[in-house]
Amino acid sequence: MARFLELLVVGLVGLALGLALADAAKLPAYFRPKCSRRSSDEVLSACVQKVANQGVSSLANGDKKLGIPSMRPLVVPRMALSQGTSTVGLNITWEPAEIWGLGESRLYNYKTNYANKSTHFDVLIPSFTLSGTYRSSGRVLLLPIHGNGPSNVTVTNLRVHYYYEWPTKKNADGKEYFYIPKSDINIIGADAMYINFDNLFNGDQTLGNSMNLFLNENWRELLKELGPGMAEAVGGVVLLVVKRLSELVPADDFWADR
Ligand SMILES: *[C@@H]1O[C@H](CO)[C@@H](O)[C@H](O)[C@H]1NC(C)=O
Ligand SMILES: *[C@@H]1O[C@H](CO)[C@@H](O)[C@H](O)[C@H]1NC(C)=O
Ligand SMILES: *[C@@H]1O[C@H](CO)[C@@H](O)[C@H](O)[C@H]1NC(C)=O
Repeated sequence: MARFLELLVVGLVGLALGLALADAAKLPAYFRPKCSRRSSDEVLSACVQKVANQGVSSLANGDKKLGIPSMRPLVVPRMALSQGTSTVGLNITWEPAEIWGLGESRLYNYKTNYANKSTHFDVLIPSFTLSGTYRSSGRVLLLPIHGNGPSNVTVTNLRVHYYYEWPTKKNADGKEYFYIPKSDINIIGADAMYINFDNLFNGDQTLGNSMNLFLNENWRELLKELGPGMAEAVGGVVLLVVKRLSELVPADDFWADR
């Protein structure tokens, strides 16, 4: 069966629109010390992983100078997930979507290949929550799920694998900048998942309660079904932030040496 995921992340005004700053920015001071690009891939990877883990918590507070919003929580005005076909498919829209827990992300298994300009790493998010007002139609795990209201999907020890490529290109100012032509995100594991969709089936409590119970009992299957779409949605938002940083900070400024 043809299966497709379609993702729409609208908003994060300034980020999505690539709000232009007049001059190149500097790498924020919370990403220190800078790593030497002359080290071996192994040493470089360990260094970047350490610096990224030290800086992520500060970055998650937002950075006005770079136009990066706070991620405590990250509020996306509208996030839509649509998959499958019109008869057995599922549409869920969060308006707004609140994404909690990114500030506590911890990177591990960071492996960069400097010559290839490619990097793999895993991220552990101890408590990840997607909440906000949802609207859903279609089917999930073969059962209909129609409703709209408050929602909360919380995943414990969410583990995600990330791959991205980071060649550079020369911008109008004559400096080289990273760009991310290719990236890929996959959920690799989780310890538990708690799901609550309020006001399912026009507020029918009995149906709504049994649907939520069913979803919680079958969370592993649900994570398999919804995971790829959710990972793409959240990964897409995180990518906007990473792209923002790489559009504004010249590549040379990321390294300790020229
Ligand atoms: C570098 O990338 C090329 C293709 O993009 C790939 O064939 C090769 O295996 C990569 N090298 C390493 C060491 O990963
Ligand atoms: C999902 O939304 C699309 C576009 O609005 C629509 O064509 C499709 O029929 C919807 N699918 C379901 C299962 O509601
Ligand atoms: C979502 O549910 C979890 C688990 O019950 C709870 O700890 C958390 O506070 C809730 N978050 C939001 C934003 O409602």
